[in-house]
Amino acid sequence: MSPSESSQVVGEPARRRRVRLAVAFLATAAVVASIGWMWVASFAPASFSVAQMGTPDYGGGPAPAHRHGPGALVATGLDVRTIVEPDTGRAPDVALTLTARAERVRFGSGPPVPAYTLNGTTPGPTVTAREGDLVQVTFVNESVPGGATLHWHGLDVPNAEDGVAGVTQDAVRPAQSHTYRFVARQVGTYWYHSHQVSHEQVVKGLLGAVVVLPRGGIAEDADVLALTHLYAGRRTVAGRVGDVPAVVRPGATARVRVVNTDNGVVPVWVSGAAYRVLAVDGTEVHGPTPVRDRSVVVPAGGRVDLAVPVPVDGSAVRVELGGSAVVLGPVGSTGSRTPAPGQTLDLLSYGEPAPLGFDPASADRRFEYRIGRRPGFVRGRPGVWWTVNGHLYPAVPMFMVSRGDVVTMHIDNSSGQAHPMHLHGHHVVVLARDGVRATGSPWWTDSLEVRSGQSYDVAFVADNPGIWMDHCHNLPHAQQGLLAHVMYEGVTTGVRTGRDTVNSPE
Ligand code: C2O
Ligand code: CU
Repeated sequence: MSPSESSQVVGEPARRRRVRLAVAFLATAAVVASIGWMWVASFAPASFSVAQMGTPDYGGGPAPAHRHGPGALVATGLDVRTIVEPDTGRAPDVALTLTARAERVRFGSGPPVPAYTLNGTTPGPTVTAREGDLVQVTFVNESVPGGATLHWHGLDVPNAEDGVAGVTQDAVRPAQSHTYRFVARQVGTYWYHSHQVSHEQVVKGLLGAVVVLPRGGIAEDADVLALTHLYAGRRTVAGRVGDVPAVVRPGATARVRVVNTDNGVVPVWVSGAAYRVLAVDGTEVHGPTPVRDRSVVVPAGGRVDLAVPVPVDGSAVRVELGGSAVVLGPVGSTGSRTPAPGQTLDLLSYGEPAPLGFDPASADRRFEYRIGRRPGFVRGRPGVWWTVNGHLYPAVPMFMVSRGDVVTMHIDNSSGQAHPMHLHGHHVVVLARDGVRATGSPWWTDSLEVRSGQSYDVAFVADNPGIWMDHCHNLPHAQQGLLAHVMYEGVTTGVRTGRDTVNSPE
């Protein structure tokens, strides 16, 4: 309608103004209502079973009769708390008690900082076992407020022993205890940490290393653990600031087990010798070759075992870990520090190929784990949050599998930040990065750094029934909703999580 037409009708401008106002009001109301709806939807229920969480994704495989999801019946499944190591009446080969306390700890010359200790130290005692040993750890929470657990990072234990508060157990409250029992089937370097309020408890040191030795012992002359952690911004190795000496005789080769317990990557390099990467995340590398002038980048939660030759001339060799170092050599020997190499080792092409033991090309399920970021609400808080397959927590996918499935997963990150992705209960093998096929040793991992703009294709065999977290190990990111679960057909959990429960795994 032109202005001249409208001016012929008395009262029309006023009516149009009213209509426009009404439209504007309705549009505003619609926006407010949908924001309100998003806000409401951003809260998980006050108490719920993770078995009912998210949207089932069958990855192109069959949807089982056992349904799950909001409102579905999940009471029929096998409770994950019953999935334990079979009781053969055997006595444990390794038995220990780890007692957690909240206390102040001093690192180097710094002031005492609030920390969590196990048996009085952080990192806690190393759990050392031999392949096939039955390990029994009694966890006592003396004074960690809000409860704590122990999760065995990288050890593919029976689901009931996984130590995830709100999924496999209730958080162990102060003055309570919980016993973990599992057979150490995997040789290699692992670690344990609390999986309750982990973005706070792990940072403050509720953690320690696990070393599983082969039955016949290691082939190297010396075994050196280099667990690194940042306490209140201070880089430490074995809880110590600065250079940490390790006495190794000249001419010997040491196996240096680097464990990154931080939220970010730690580049590791060796000053004064070529090294080999013997293992990644516990799994031996096939045909590792000498590495010179390159650092190996260890993702959050990841481990590498390095073969480091100690010079014959009595000097020391240094393994540099982001500001700290392990200095290997005879008593009193020194080595000289070299700057970080400009290049990094690419595990996609390191070592020699070997059979995987299964065929990822005939996968039963193919999942996508696309990580993005967008504005919205998580737990009622507005922000720009991580998304999984376009959805904000708690509307994340539930990756449904059946026992025995061969599973592939395409992980894609367009979120603007890197994410160290960790699947519990399984190791995945890297098939390709950015579409480029892996050509080196099979790269089995449980802690995979996925940089922004990168994609990885990984595969695994679903051989460990349960409900398993698959999350970012930059733990504040998990707390912000960057998590999902892999769930087996026929299982459920009677453990509840949500704000009305004690459990808050992230
Ligand atoms: Cu190392 Cu879900 O954790
Ligand atoms: Cu992340």
